[in-house]
Amino acid sequence: MMRMIDLIEKKRDGNAHSKEEIQFIIQGLTEGSIPDYQISAWLMAVFFQSMNEKEAFYLTEAMLESGEQIDLSAIEGIKVDKHSTGGVGDKTTLALAPLVATMGGKMAKLSGRGLGHTGGTIDKLESIPGFNTSLSPEAFKSQVNTIGCAVAGQTADVAPADKILYALRDVTGTVPSIPLIASSIMAKKLASGADVIVLDVKVGEGAFMKSEAEATKLASLMVEIGTQHGKSVTAFLTRMDEPLGEAIGNRLEVLEAMDALNGKGPADFHHLLVELAGAITYKAELYPSFEAAKAAAEAILSSGEAYARFEQFIHAQGGDLSAFKAVKALTPTLIKAPKAGTIQSIHALNLGLFAMHLGAGRATKDDVIDPLVGLKVLKRVGEPVEPGETIAEVYAQSPVDLDALKASIVIENTPQHTPDLILKKIGL
Ligand code: URA
Repeated sequence: MMRMIDLIEKKRDGNAHSKEEIQFIIQGLTEGSIPDYQISAWLMAVFFQSMNEKEAFYLTEAMLESGEQIDLSAIEGIKVDKHSTGGVGDKTTLALAPLVATMGGKMAKLSGRGLGHTGGTIDKLESIPGFNTSLSPEAFKSQVNTIGCAVAGQTADVAPADKILYALRDVTGTVPSIPLIASSIMAKKLASGADVIVLDVKVGEGAFMKSEAEATKLASLMVEIGTQHGKSVTAFLTRMDEPLGEAIGNRLEVLEAMDALNGKGPADFHHLLVELAGAITYKAELYPSFEAAKAAAEAILSSGEAYARFEQFIHAQGGDLSAFKAVKALTPTLIKAPKAGTIQSIHALNLGLFAMHLGAGRATKDDVIDPLVGLKVLKRVGEPVEPGETIAEVYAQSPVDLDALKASIVIENTPQHTPDLILKKIGL
């Protein structure tokens, strides 16, 4: 008979697990027959000894099979999905889903809530009065068939083993392990049923993966896992040292996504949208080349068609955009550049934490979000600033200490180049 203690020791000593051993662990933790302390010890052993590609593949498969696998066959056309490993100001899904839908893709997206310094798509959408994120499977699929996209909250039935493992990883210092992250993300993506998956792996201080080398390993492993499951998977590595776009905070990010859908988003966000939409629709064979797909995305963003699709999508899920637009914004406090110079760095992690403390995010999972609060960073790394020029706006409900924010935007009198947002593409 297999015993958990033997498997912990096996991993502790650097040996690889068999498929049966991994199935035993995942079944045991899902049924509750293996205690948390043994799973925690095993997680720490995996953190230090890692896993080979086969083990990561078995782990993904076991987690995928621990719950419901969504059948999207009732949706006509190529089903596409996108996932970001999480960052600050990452409102990409809000704009990408209607953009891709306008281009002919079918995006049936399950999204999560924010925790810690990173935001979540579901929280952002809920800043729109009436928006419903818990759709029945029938309503979800029917909306994707008619409008081309739907975004709903992740249900408890998808990869339940991941829920248990993630909660333990969160409190045992074992989140940043490449095979554990890859299997956690890919189990959920494979269970969601799409044919074409594009992953946005964030790299930098505001992300789980701090270095390009680590992020490349994670991205390659996820592409490999997905490909072995017969899916078309592409991964982008994108920088998360500075936030994406200008806005951080739920309502502010929805407004920025709306600008982007009219072709008027901040340059970095616009660029990422066009690249991701291009990759997804090219891989879905809706366009003959990646270049042609990107050109179509550009045209659709400037024509207003993508914004019109966004309105349909929000309306279909009960959201009231007139009420959303009529909400009175908070009066921003303007942050001025203390001296002339060039922006050297904008610390995404600190800004994400600052926005969370304002009430835009959750320190613990039961915290309540204030949709109105947040900030806008109006400058990018490499841009010059004049003394007294406004570099950021803070939207708060009451006076706050701005020192942490000011320290997060570093200005020096030395030149600094504007780094590329996209570092690498794998599988395109
Ligand atoms: N996101 C996930 O879904 N899982 C991880 O392990 C890390 C990020």
